[in-house]
Amino acid sequence: MLRTDTPTQKRRLGRLIEPFNDRVAWDLLLQRLNPTWSVGEIRARVIRRAEESDDTFSLYLQANRHWPGHQAGQHLRLQVEINGVLRQRVFSISSAPGKTRATRGQLRLTIQRQPGQGVTDWLYQNARVGQVFTLGAPGGDFTLPAAVPTKLLMIAGGSGLTPMMAMLHHLAERGHVGDIHLIQLCRKPAQRLFAVELDALARQLPGLTVDVHFSHANGRLKLESLTDRVPDFDERHTLLCGPNTLMEQAMTFWQGRTTAGPLQIERFAAPRPAGQSGGLLSVTASQSEQMFTQIPGQTLLESAEASGLSPDYGCRAGICRTCLCRKTQGQVRNLITGLASSQADEWIQLCVSVAESDLQLDL
Ligand SMILES: Cc1cc2nc3c(=O)[nH]c(=O)nc-3n(C[C@H](O)[C@H](O)[C@H](O)COP(=O)(O)OP(=O)(O)OC[C@H]3O[C@@H](n4cnc5c(N)ncnc54)[C@H](O)[C@@H]3O)c2cc1C
Ligand code: FES
Repeated sequence: MLRTDTPTQKRRLGRLIEPFNDRVAWDLLLQRLNPTWSVGEIRARVIRRAEESDDTFSLYLQANRHWPGHQAGQHLRLQVEINGVLRQRVFSISSAPGKTRATRGQLRLTIQRQPGQGVTDWLYQNARVGQVFTLGAPGGDFTLPAAVPTKLLMIAGGSGLTPMMAMLHHLAERGHVGDIHLIQLCRKPAQRLFAVELDALARQLPGLTVDVHFSHANGRLKLESLTDRVPDFDERHTLLCGPNTLMEQAMTFWQGRTTAGPLQIERFAAPRPAGQSGGLLSVTASQSEQMFTQIPGQTLLESAEASGLSPDYGCRAGICRTCLCRKTQGQVRNLITGLASSQADEWIQLCVSVAESDLQLDL
């Protein structure tokens, strides 16, 4: 029997069991047996892939037992290894939360391929059944209010429909009978997502109206005419997710309309900064010993990239904190919170910050 009475014996025992406490080693071992097994990481296997349009596809995932469950409307971080480099991107979950233990880990992500050489393009070309990805825990507060309002308006542009699909499925499963007006914005009929699924949802949800707006044929949705389209607009709780321009216009519109009901938004990208007045501001990236200019109308991340620097990023929307950077001097403003950071030695998110003075960054 191993005795652990004295400090020496305790140290010896500690050394003996040390390898068993090494989570990384355990993970590597477990991965060899089954790529979804892990001591604590959420991993998920692709069990189905479906093409939703010419540039959008869905991945159906089965997550391991570490998936804690999500609320309809939330997003997650997906990690991929591309040419030996780990990259993370954020995606909304387009399926309803599973109700049973068996269905809890079943998730669907619906991903629009962005032109370029980013993660979505890689996934479009490479994601296939059997692959295993590491996921982050679900997050975000773009979820239905606890007491679901009797009248909802959902405005979804392009892939901005994904969190709403999760909500609609969730409401359908709960037998929701309230009034839901969904305005689905897409360029052309060929780019419309989930047409068949929405028809099926309309049969399950007696109060659901699916109102499709094709901008190619009808121009951009005019928010000023929302009351023509949805006469009881002011009585509705609105959920909105779409391109940045639509989000900015909607926020201005809601601010100017005092009778409007609550507006809840989800951003897939950082708000666009206003072009700054005054002289150009310079940023010193002290680690790389480079200087760059804060380009008016761009975030610090974009300005750094334009100068040839490649800071790490994940969501480009102020969510994942991958772009956190220590500011050692100067003032920046956070585009989401509107707050200024003027103290030295503060951490800032490059993807949602703009310089308001010359800066020094630990970059
Ligand atoms: C909360 C949230 C939920 C989301 N849900 C979904 C979803 O359900 N489905 C979906 O399809 N997408 C979703 N997105 C968006 C998705 O995360 C992005 O489409 C994805 O990050 C794009 O990644 P990418 O690597 O393909 O493109 P990236 O290479 O990261 O490019 C993204 C954009 O950043 C710009 N960019 C990239 N590099 C540079 C550079 N060097 N200089 C200047 N600009 C640059 C480009 O304009 C490009 O359009 C969501 C985003 C958020 C924040
Ligand atoms: S890249 Fe995600 S917070 Fe900046």
